[in-house]
Amino acid sequence: MSISIRQLHPVFVGEVAGIDCREPLGREEVAAIEAGMDRYAVLVFRDQNINDEQQIAFTRHLGELEGYNTPGHVRRREDQRLGPGIADFSNLDKHGNIMSDEDRVWFFKLGDRLWHSDSSFRRIPAKYSLLSARVLPSWGANTEFADMRAAYGALDARTTDEVEELICEHSLIYSREAIGFTDLTPEEIAAFRPVRQRLVRSHPMTGRKSLFLASHAGAIVGWTLPEARMFLRDLTEHATQREFVYSHSWRPYDLVMWDNRSTMHRARRFDRNEVRDVRRTTLAGDVATVEQVE
Ligand SMILES: [Fe+2]
Repeated sequence: MSISIRQLHPVFVGEVAGIDCREPLGREEVAAIEAGMDRYAVLVFRDQNINDEQQIAFTRHLGELEGYNTPGHVRRREDQRLGPGIADFSNLDKHGNIMSDEDRVWFFKLGDRLWHSDSSFRRIPAKYSLLSARVLPSWGANTEFADMRAAYGALDARTTDEVEELICEHSLIYSREAIGFTDLTPEEIAAFRPVRQRLVRSHPMTGRKSLFLASHAGAIVGWTLPEARMFLRDLTEHATQREFVYSHSWRPYDLVMWDNRSTMHRARRFDRNEVRDVRRTTLAGDVATVEQVE
């Protein structure tokens, strides 16, 4: 059976048929998925009842996993429920119990409900993220995606010129501060030191430009903080207007893959007393968006 892709949203997002993510991928299948990602930026694979090893193996067919011992993990290795190579985006602690609403790991996860691009706070931000739904709550918990190519294309001419050369500073400190979570340790503050990212980036395969925004962006180089924050807020509102947004309503065993270079996403509310067990593998990016000033 060969791969086919059906578009789910007027602007982007495809649903893939004809693939079993538990099986090794051939070269043609990898090429078809990558071409689909270049076109749709988000791909939905239904009915993929995979375990962690299978998810990691599927991801590795598409490239290198993002490094694990890099800033961004607030949970110590010994407190993690899952093994290496896969990140736990559930609301469960290492014993499989629902986290306390005062658990600081939970506070960090709440920040994912702000629009963001995964790992934009890393010097080399992520390429693809793959999220697998294992257990879902009975209400809510959609993931929304915004097409940042479409957002860039819809800027007026003056704003297009204005953003072209701008460099932003991204850090987990900014996105957590935005929800009032400022209780970071000195080690975390050091690990979350802001990194610089271009505000406009070009996709390496398609050449299409996109806005590289995230709630992790908290400053623009050379701008005052209030001017920068207001401009970033305006751009985010522009980029997430409804016509550029797809809301994914999860079914068990959905696997959704997105390109962090050309989309933003956010998690939506659910009843925190119900289990949401979703697990993410992440493909490393290969270049920094700007030369870093160390
Ligand atoms: Fe995310």
